[in-house]
Amino acid sequence: MRTQSSVRTDPYLRSVLVASCLVAGCSSDAPVADKSPCATNDGQCIFRHDTFGDEQLWTDTLRLHDLVQTLPPTTALAVGLKVDADAVPADVLASADLHDPATTVALISLDAVVGVHGIVESGRITKIGITCAMCHSTVDDSVAPGIGKRLDGWPNRTLNPGAVIALTPGLPSFTGSLGVDNAAAVAALNSWGAGRYDARFNQDKESHPVVLPPAYGLANVALETYTGEGVVSYWNAYVAVTQMGGHGNFKDDRLRLDIRQDPDRVTPMLPALRDYQFSLVPPAAPTGSFDIAAAQRGKILFEGQGRCSACHSGASFTDAPTLHAASETGMSADEARRSATGMYRTTPLRGVWQHPPYFHDGSAQTLLNVVEHYDQVLDLGLSGAQRSDLEQYLLSL
Ligand code: HEC
Ligand code: HEC
Repeated sequence: MRTQSSVRTDPYLRSVLVASCLVAGCSSDAPVADKSPCATNDGQCIFRHDTFGDEQLWTDTLRLHDLVQTLPPTTALAVGLKVDADAVPADVLASADLHDPATTVALISLDAVVGVHGIVESGRITKIGITCAMCHSTVDDSVAPGIGKRLDGWPNRTLNPGAVIALTPGLPSFTGSLGVDNAAAVAALNSWGAGRYDARFNQDKESHPVVLPPAYGLANVALETYTGEGVVSYWNAYVAVTQMGGHGNFKDDRLRLDIRQDPDRVTPMLPALRDYQFSLVPPAAPTGSFDIAAAQRGKILFEGQGRCSACHSGASFTDAPTLHAASETGMSADEARRSATGMYRTTPLRGVWQHPPYFHDGSAQTLLNVVEHYDQVLDLGLSGAQRSDLEQYLLSL
């Protein structure tokens, strides 16, 4: 099966498409990974295991399989990849040599590396692709650090996607087709750090990574992404096609993108994928992790003197689809400027205790830092005790 593409004739559009086609592989002759391992109504399977045919990027262009073949599990764990302990027989796990690359290959063949889906033939990885779970799942570390039960929707804040991409042997051909100097791209990718990714790097060639957000707690949120680009399925399609390199369609006139690849492996999966994300509830704050009386006082401040509920309103603590200028919250405008909306969405405060650092760029390490930021920018005049009460309330959400 050959991939097909349809590109409009506008020269600017063509140049943008060269970039995205490279990622999406629109003009590639590579075979599409045969078919999804998931039924179109099985959102959990799609989230965890479907690569949408993105082997055209990760295998055919980046040659990630050649890299993974040589990686001991210790290195894979060090860049933040996780192992699903339920996919590995307990005795195998207990006796596995985590310094031996053959163990990595065995884990791939068991589909036990979270967010990485590969095919192993005679001890060699012949195909590899990535899934949504790579960035939006982690594990509970119940067996060892990085090895345990899956926690879908929890952002993988120890994953270093930039470092992984920087190590791929096929990167020079990728950056070459983007028209980006390879050494500069490697430097940018290595500068992102753990828990951060830039979903526009291959589009506008700027580098302003954002913190990997949770994919839970979104059921009642009107717009997704820090900049409110669109509804969940819009964004899922953007990422699947332009970032993961999946084989499918994506169109957005605002971004002047119109990518079409037949067969479309992405679009049929979007409804079940959306429903699965909407089923993921935020994790409750652990018992004893915050001071109940202080949190009650903090709630009053959140709705009163702190003015937080002016924007963080409703059950999900967001006024989306209303969007805000960077200056309203004292944010750097870099990410908004690059986006289709030019604004920021009020981040829903779901399980917010669980995923430091905060703000799209991770500029606040702790929730107390968040409160301190607002105290200054909005000139709230909070006392130290009030700032601490507000922090305790945030920890309880
Ligand atoms: C390489 C890492 C990576 C992969 C793979 C990935 N995402 Fe994301 N995802 C991100 C980043 C980074 C953002 C933040 C983008 C932004 O807001 O500008 C994001 C944003 C999101 C959001 C919005 C969350 C919110 O609060 O608005 C959802 C939902 C989401 N991703 C789901 C998915 C799904 C479903 C897939 C698979 C089709 C996927 N992601 C694949 C990194 C990734
Ligand atoms: C003018 C609207 C507005 C007000 C007022 C406001 N926020 Fe926000 N809040 C936002 C926006 C927009 C973001 C996203 C900023 C970003 O990441 O760039 C945000 C982000 C946050 C985050 C980060 C969440 C995450 O997961 O990264 C927290 C926590 C937060 N606000 C708490 C508060 C608190 C506490 C107050 C009151 C002291 C407050 N906000 C007042 C609009 C507002």
